[in-house]
Amino acid sequence: MGESDYCTILVGSLRKGSLNRAAARSAVRYLHNQFTIHQPDLSQIPLFNQDLEELGDPEAVTRLKDAVDESKLVLCFSPEYNYSTPGLLKNAIDWLSRPFRSGSLVGRSVGIASVTPGSRGGENAREHLLQTFGVLTEHLYRVTLGIPGVTELDDGFLPEHAEQLLRPWLDDVIKFSTQDPHIRP
Ligand SMILES: Cc1cc2nc3c(=O)[nH]c(=O)nc-3n(C[C@H](O)[C@H](O)[C@H](O)COP(=O)(O)O)c2cc1C
Repeated sequence: MGESDYCTILVGSLRKGSLNRAAARSAVRYLHNQFTIHQPDLSQIPLFNQDLEELGDPEAVTRLKDAVDESKLVLCFSPEYNYSTPGLLKNAIDWLSRPFRSGSLVGRSVGIASVTPGSRGGENAREHLLQTFGVLTEHLYRVTLGIPGVTELDDGFLPEHAEQLLRPWLDDVIKFSTQDPHIRP
């Protein structure tokens, strides 16, 4: 593992004070010696439309796909909206899933996390993301991370009690990402 390994972080919230963006910031701070990190801007990605796709991927989509193509690891930090995945993130994943069966996520290790002020740690969103990523990569890390009860940030980063949950999970995801998917049970 070294800075020549790439990791893409996808954040499912556009909110400035987003807890999940803070989690991404904390992850970058923790991982920056191990990975070069891409954080594609999902706000510029148009709604998926096959007509648009046939004209050629829009620029923001190309940037997203290039980032993921280059990455060994993809991490998602996302809130739960109405018991599911926010449209922002689902839309980005839909673009990444193309072309069918050979999209950018094939072969990528993927880790899923959710930070919430509520008590359930976005369990429905994490479950739905597991279902979605489960058909897009054979190297999905099935132990998701839910961090409930986060109500305040620490200078834009997660508070220490939340980072204490984040760090060991990141260590486990990285370990998982170094394993060959074909030798896993
Ligand atoms: C449209 C919408 C739907 C939401 N639905 C849920 C939900 O189903 N379950 C939940 O635990 N929190 C829900 N929340 C609360 C979010 O967990 C909370 O706003 C969180 O801070 C959003 O993530 P962010 O801080 O990364 O922006 C919802 C919030 C919004 C704006």
